[in-house]
Amino acid sequence: PRDLRELAHQSGIRIGTAVDIAALRGEADYRKVLNREFTHVTAENAMKWESVEPQRGVYTWADADTLVDNARRNGQRVRGHTLVWHNQLPAWLTAGVADGTIGNDELRSILRDHITTEVRRYKGKIRAWDVVNEVVEEDGTMRKTIWLDRLGPGYIADAFRWAHRADPQAKLFINDYNLEWNAPKIETTLALVKDLQARGVPIHGAGFQGHLGIQYDYPGDWANVMRRFADLGLEIAVTELDARMVLPVTEEKLETQATYYSRALTDCLSVAACKELTVWGFTDRHSWVPGWFDGQGSACLFDENLAKKPAYRALLAVR
Ligand code: XIL
Repeated sequence: PRDLRELAHQSGIRIGTAVDIAALRGEADYRKVLNREFTHVTAENAMKWESVEPQRGVYTWADADTLVDNARRNGQRVRGHTLVWHNQLPAWLTAGVADGTIGNDELRSILRDHITTEVRRYKGKIRAWDVVNEVVEEDGTMRKTIWLDRLGPGYIADAFRWAHRADPQAKLFINDYNLEWNAPKIETTLALVKDLQARGVPIHGAGFQGHLGIQYDYPGDWANVMRRFADLGLEIAVTELDARMVLPVTEEKLETQATYYSRALTDCLSVAACKELTVWGFTDRHSWVPGWFDGQGSACLFDENLAKKPAYRALLAVR
């Protein structure tokens, strides 16, 4: 294959990226690579609650619309990210819960309205939604969030049901990080999916974020973990792949990084239910890693100048 778009067509899985909307609007070179290489897109931030409803009842869809419109013009499918999360909630919501002006019944209807409004707005335009994001802790207990605390564990089933009602065609995913290898998280998430299925809740997929660091071993059991979820009848996606390194960058680290990317693609290709591999940003010019991991960076397929890194070539070489 000549590029990732050709690779996607030949291999039958969509290759996607998270998109920075300001860069999409303002940087012609970014836009060019995005639309040449990728057949799936996720808004890095633009569909999160704080982005779409910064003030109560005041919706700001312009950025999300820009992503969806660009995708339609460029033959890209869209992953909606994300409906229920504990981060990047609007201040009016967290403050209202904290000071008691938003009670539990009201919070439940706020969540229902949020899901219904956002999913309905993009009905027919979103292939898959990350309905719930990061709902299990590292130790395998349910994550302590305002949702669990105020609504009880039933909020997860409710969220899937509300999303399904708003767009019956969209594939509905549970999404998490460290699900590639963390046993307690894996077991709890599998049990949660089984429980939802037993109760007839519409859940269709499991997303593995795939935020890897090359200073750690590659999660060698990942394909088996994917298979365990696939065996429940779920579609599998790698939703946020990157492979960060401790700076400075060296040729050797870039080669190691290349193997992490190619192994992730190989793992996805080895599981029939894995239909999408999305990277969390394609260029080091716009990557969340330096801002979130002290002293780390260079996590993407393209460098700051949009030159292809060894990891990019390694993906094209996967058979
Ligand atoms: C990150 C974005 O990349 C940053 O720009 C933002 O400041 C914080 O969130 N898991 C997720 C993503 O599901 O939404 C996160 O994205 C990265 C970790």
